[in-house]
Order: sequence, then structure tokens, then C-alpha cells
Amino acid sequence: MSFPEQYEIYRSQFEEELQAECAGLNFHPQVLGESMRYSLLVGGKRIRPVLFYAALASFGADWKAERELALALECIHTYSLIHDDLPAMDNDDFRRGKPSNHKKFGEANAILAGDALLSHACELMLAAAEKGKLHLRAARRLAAAAGERGMVAGQSEDLLLTGKRAGEKELFSIYRRKTGELIAAPLVMAAILSGKDEARAERLGYDLGALFQLTDDILDETGGAELGKTRGKDREEGKLTCLSVFGMEKSLRLADETARRCEKTLSEWEGENSFLTELVRNIRSRNK
Ligand code: IPE
Ligand code: IPE
Ligand code: MG
Ligand code: MG
Ligand code: MG
Repeated sequence: MSFPEQYEIYRSQFEEELQAECAGLNFHPQVLGESMRYSLLVGGKRIRPVLFYAALASFGADWKAERELALALECIHTYSLIHDDLPAMDNDDFRRGKPSNHKKFGEANAILAGDALLSHACELMLAAAEKGKLHLRAARRLAAAAGERGMVAGQSEDLLLTGKRAGEKELFSIYRRKTGELIAAPLVMAAILSGKDEARAERLGYDLGALFQLTDDILDETGGAELGKTRGKDREEGKLTCLSVFGMEKSLRLADETARRCEKTLSEWEGENSFLTELVRNIRSRNK
């Protein structure tokens, strides 16, 4: 099977689970469910759940059985995007090719949709944790990745250094936490659930997270309409990015080096590594 076909199998399975979950988001006040559904269903590459399913499959696990943690991951990621776009943060009007949540529903509703998505993720993680000790550990890892030592810390540091002069050390600290943690979490969770090497999964996750954010920063400058976000926004807002620290040429070189490091870790993977290796190459050369 080709890489795009395999990606589509994981993605469409996840999409089905998400549609079913969203059908349950029907309550008073209607606007809350509507704005949660809007951001969840408006599009997105679903890279984190796909990584989770693919890593589980690479270890020979029953990946379709892990819907709760896959959904929790995407709920947390989506909430992080809604809040990231708010005027008080990156002030972005477009997301996933559509008006961002606060443009459509207003700031207060966008804040609350994010809050509710995080709480909903907690419910899903607790449902997963009921399956046993390994699931409990996996869920705990996801909670840590999302929180004050993980994604939120990275977002806080990102804001702290916006408009400031800073260097490589600060840049990679932001990358690891704002992006790396939620990319590492699916890989580490898959290793936990399958009894495989967690440190190796984490190493791959942090490198892949760095690769993902390097390409995100590069695409902010060079991307086309398929990106679905406003371009040139990082420069406009004075963000600390690989381009502001290294310039374009060195950023591209760093992306190549980081992709090679990912491939090296995958060459020692305790399982089938071909899909994940292709995914690394795909992230390096992505245009959205
Ligand atoms: C965007 O993530 C935020 C970053 C961490 C760079 P994605 O590029 O995965 O966004 P979607 O989910 O496909 O919209
Ligand atoms: C955001 O990084 C990372 C998150 C935790 C949401 P960016 O601010 O660069 O992401 P985009 O470019 O808005 O998607
Ligand atoms: Mg941001
Ligand atoms: Mg942003
Ligand atoms: Mg960006």
C-alpha cells in the first residue's frame, strides 16, 4: 500500500470517530457546542492522531481500539489553536482555511470553546484510563504534555519572547514545549501501551516536533493558499522563529538535519518503520 493510502486509512478512521464524538456535542447553550464542532471539524491534517495510530500499528497493537486517546489529543490540539489565534495571543483571523473561532463566534465564546475542549479531553482521557494501568500512564503523559510544563509553557515562553531579542537556546526551548510535547505524546503513549522503548519514542517525538515547527515557521514566510493561515504573520508580530534567529538558508539546512536525525532514530525502531519514515519526509517537504 502507498504512503498516501495508508495515511488516508488512519485519517479517515479518526475522522469517523471524531464525527461520532461531535454528534454528541449537543447541549444548551447551542453556541458552545457549535463553536467546539466548528473548530474540530473545519479541517486539519490530523497529524497527531495519525501519528498515534501509526505508532501503535508499527508496534503491532490494535490501533483502532484507542479512539479515546486519539480524540483527546486532537481536542487539546484544537483548543490550543483556538486560543493561539486570539487577539491577545497571535491575533490570527484565519485557521484551517476558514475564519478563526473568535472571528466566527466572538472572543468570549472562543475562550470558552477552548476551555470546554480541554475539559472534554480530560473526560476522554479518564475513559481511556478505566482500561487499566498502562492506559492510565499514557493519559497522564498526555496531560503533562498539554500543561504547564508542556504546550502551555511553550506558548507562554513564545509570548514572553515576542518582540524580544533571543537566540537558539530560547527558540528550541519554545519548539520543544509548544509543539514538541504534543507531537511526542502520541509516540510515547503508543510505546507505553505496547511495552516498547519510551525514551526512543520521546527522542523521535521531540525531533519530529522541532522539524514540524521549523517547517511551520518557514511556511509562514513561503507558504501558499493551501496553508489555510495568514502568511507573513510571524514577522509582522515580531515572533521568535527559526527565520529570525538563523535566516532562511540555515533554517532549511537545520530542517534537513533534523529530518535525518528522525530517520536515524527510526532505523532503530522496535517495529515496522516504513510508514513513519515516509511521514518524516512528508513533514519535511509539506506545503500545508
Ligand atoms: C499548527 O498545527 C500548530 C503548530 C504546532 C505549528 P498543525 O499544522 O498540525 O495544524 P492543523 O491541525 O493541521 O490545522
Ligand atoms: C503554535 O505555534 C503552537 C501551538 C501550540 C498552537 P504557531 O503560533 O506558530 O502556530 P500557527 O502558525 O499559528 O499554526
Ligand atoms: Mg503562536
Ligand atoms: Mg499562531
Ligand atoms: Mg506558525
